[in-house]
Amino acid sequence: MNILVVGSGGREHALAWKLAGSSRVKRVFVAPGNAGTATEGSDIENVPIKELEFPKLLEFAKQNKIGLTVVGSEVPLCAGIVDVFDREGLRIFGPSKSAAQLEGSKSFCKEILRRGDVPTAIYNVFTGGDEAIQFLQNRDNPIVVKADGLAAGKGVIVCKNRSESIEAVHRIKKRREFGEAGDRIVIEERLDGEEVSVLAITDGSTILMLQPAQDHKPAFDGDVGPNTGGMGAYSPVPIVDDQMLRWIEERVLVPTVHTMNSNGTPFKGVLYAGLMITKQGPKVLEYNVRFGDPECQPLLMRLNCDLVDIMEATIDGKLDSIRMPEWDARHAVCVVMASKGYPNEYETGKPIRGLDDAAKIPNTKVFHAGTAIEKTDNKDEIKIITNGGRVLGVTGLGETISDAKFAAYSAVKKIRWDGAWCRKDISDKATK
Ligand code: AMP
Ligand code: GLY
Repeated sequence: MNILVVGSGGREHALAWKLAGSSRVKRVFVAPGNAGTATEGSDIENVPIKELEFPKLLEFAKQNKIGLTVVGSEVPLCAGIVDVFDREGLRIFGPSKSAAQLEGSKSFCKEILRRGDVPTAIYNVFTGGDEAIQFLQNRDNPIVVKADGLAAGKGVIVCKNRSESIEAVHRIKKRREFGEAGDRIVIEERLDGEEVSVLAITDGSTILMLQPAQDHKPAFDGDVGPNTGGMGAYSPVPIVDDQMLRWIEERVLVPTVHTMNSNGTPFKGVLYAGLMITKQGPKVLEYNVRFGDPECQPLLMRLNCDLVDIMEATIDGKLDSIRMPEWDARHAVCVVMASKGYPNEYETGKPIRGLDDAAKIPNTKVFHAGTAIEKTDNKDEIKIITNGGRVLGVTGLGETISDAKFAAYSAVKKIRWDGAWCRKDISDKATK
């Protein structure tokens, strides 16, 4: 069959690569893709359609006999791409618009967690800035202030004291820094501990647990600096043992899936729980409704079964007929290489060198994110340039976490462009 992957990041490169490896797949199209998906092989091809151009995506899917569409990011999911494809009878993997609110609205998510009795931070929701500030006047504990809607990962403000939390409310309400996403505010207690990502695939009744992964959100080594989309990830995660994973399934994912059903918003797709492992046990920080980026890259490097079968069974509500996924017992570490300036304003258009040398390092794979192909006069010459903040996700496999880290950084060392940088401590938390 032919597959359409919607998106252009490292996650979408990993998805296209994994799906193209299925014996059931003829061609994978990526809309719009990046230089990595353009050069991956003859069975993967980019299509110049953006992720929110639904009529064009539909038209393309119909004309090219797409048997399965896979959506990478939350933005088209929250805008209702699955409903649009479903209405036309086209098969698409992911949650409906109403179910995607689990990520698209933090107050919706908190209400589902409350009703499902799922462990999470204590919270309050406000529509008015004055009410929120009044509430904060009587609070001295550490607080997190969140814009309710999607804000490209920037709408969460972790505050040290009362004046910071009042300033956060001003940013969301008075200065409208996050626009409509700030129509409502969620204020919650700050949780302390180690963060992990636990992803599962569900058809609304069966839950297929994936292996845990850990992201590295702060920009710099030692988890300092501004928040990013994620500077690296690894899997598996030693602090989440089998017993804890089962607990998370039973106490977090099962009640969430049930409550989504009873709410009339049944969930199908990837359910990604962002968890804080607190002294009292795991608590949900947030839900995402798709694979994490960069968590997807190490996870798919380790997944040893056919993702097409899993995605089709999810669409058909037949996940109970699928065998438990098999995993490569090795560890995977993904190091994100970024552009100078990221996560603030960053440079683009820098030629990337050394990709061929990096490709020769055993047990590694370079997933592209913010890259593009620059047109040159010579048709046979391919020049790859930077085209985003997070540029590459260099992923290594190894018998131990240290071996995987060594493999990933050996490939990183081969790659250079003007202003390239990365964290040097990805996965160190696992061995500390
Ligand atoms: P995002 O993934 O962009 O929504 O950002 C969420 C991030 O904010 C999480 O990864 C945590 O690091 C942080 N965060 C969110 N809620 C809390 C909380 N209640 N306590 C501590 N940190 C939080
Ligand atoms: N890596 C975090 C996310 O995908 O939201």
